[in-house]
Amino acid sequence: MNAEETKNLFTQYSLNTYKRVGPVFVKGKGSFLWDSAGKKYLDLFPGWGVSILGHCHPGVVRAIKEQAKKLIHLPNNLFQEEQALLAEKIVKSTFPSKVFFANSGAEAIESAIKLTRLYGKETGRFEIITMKNSFHGRTFGALSATGQAKYKEPFQPILPGFKEAEFNNFESFKAQVTSKTVAVMLELIQGEGGVNIASKEYVKNLNDFCKANKMLLIIDEVQTGMARTNKLFCYQNYDIIPDAFVISKGLGAGVPTSAFVVKDEHANLFQPGLHASTFGGSPLVTKVSLEVFKIIEEEKILENTKSMGDYLLDNLNKLKKKFSFIKEARGLGLMTALELDVDSFPIFTKAMEEGLIINSTHGTVLRIMPALNVKKRELDKGLRILKSILNTVKS
Ligand SMILES: Cc1ncc(COP(=O)(O)O)c(C=O)c1O
Repeated sequence: MNAEETKNLFTQYSLNTYKRVGPVFVKGKGSFLWDSAGKKYLDLFPGWGVSILGHCHPGVVRAIKEQAKKLIHLPNNLFQEEQALLAEKIVKSTFPSKVFFANSGAEAIESAIKLTRLYGKETGRFEIITMKNSFHGRTFGALSATGQAKYKEPFQPILPGFKEAEFNNFESFKAQVTSKTVAVMLELIQGEGGVNIASKEYVKNLNDFCKANKMLLIIDEVQTGMARTNKLFCYQNYDIIPDAFVISKGLGAGVPTSAFVVKDEHANLFQPGLHASTFGGSPLVTKVSLEVFKIIEEEKILENTKSMGDYLLDNLNKLKKKFSFIKEARGLGLMTALELDVDSFPIFTKAMEEGLIINSTHGTVLRIMPALNVKKRELDKGLRILKSILNTVKS
């Protein structure tokens, strides 16, 4: 089948929910992808932040193959070793807690929303404060938590019980608190919202306020987690222990999975029958996640994230100095962005034509989130291509 025929099948048979661009991709390895015509692309945004070890890491491929031969799926009312070991790994890497496995970021967020309902029952509290510009997913609860009207408006009425505060603005948060407030849900670095970083003071204030008022602090680590932001989890960059957090994207490095982690003191709120997932935590995906943790340690991924992240941000700042239409370069670890005062979408499509994959979000933001094992020469190549495109931008 040629590329045109594949695209025609999409037009004819797939629901039109994505603005798809570019060629048809057929193969990936590390930070590179190949299209059906054999052209090679440098992928500095692999899998929307999912493919943290690049495409088809040999360890991930091996784990999939070996586990597929042994046991692929098992319902969650039966015991299996892989899921138990992964839960242990997550807890030992964080704080005393219990883990529930699901399949996607939004599903893990739904679990967190259900925790807040259980926790607030006794005191009659149910409202959750989330942040403007946040993104928590597309299922109804996660969508209702998302602080962006454009995603919610078409589906009104959305769920009640969600209030929005300005990100990085503690006064705005306090103004939303009522006697019904039970929790705050936060991305420490807003991803889809354009890589906006929460300040340490703001997070400390939120944390102190939650503790003082017996409110839950829930951290969405779907995008920031799994070594993306210089620590295994982004909350570890702040002086906090959340009441619960959710992980997804990098957890499976390409296989669909997610986890909801809840502090021991709240864990008993969940009892058999209150929550479940048919596919969550299957032996296949949990084996892969165990391998991902192993690779992060063995290949010193956190060190690479830090050194390559600093290098990338340094170079993005150099681009900012050179081009007046770049308003800001920002990031932590390998989660970086350029905020422009021109449309970022044409730059994203031009980059794709030139063999570089990055991301355009929020109209004027270019997001760059390479694989965490990206090499300096790959970043240099990407920066060279990006610079040549920025040279052609008319501002
Ligand atoms: C911070 C954050 N939370 C939740 C989600 C939703 O994840 P999923 O698309 O896997 O449902 C995303 C997806 O991009 C995300 O970035």
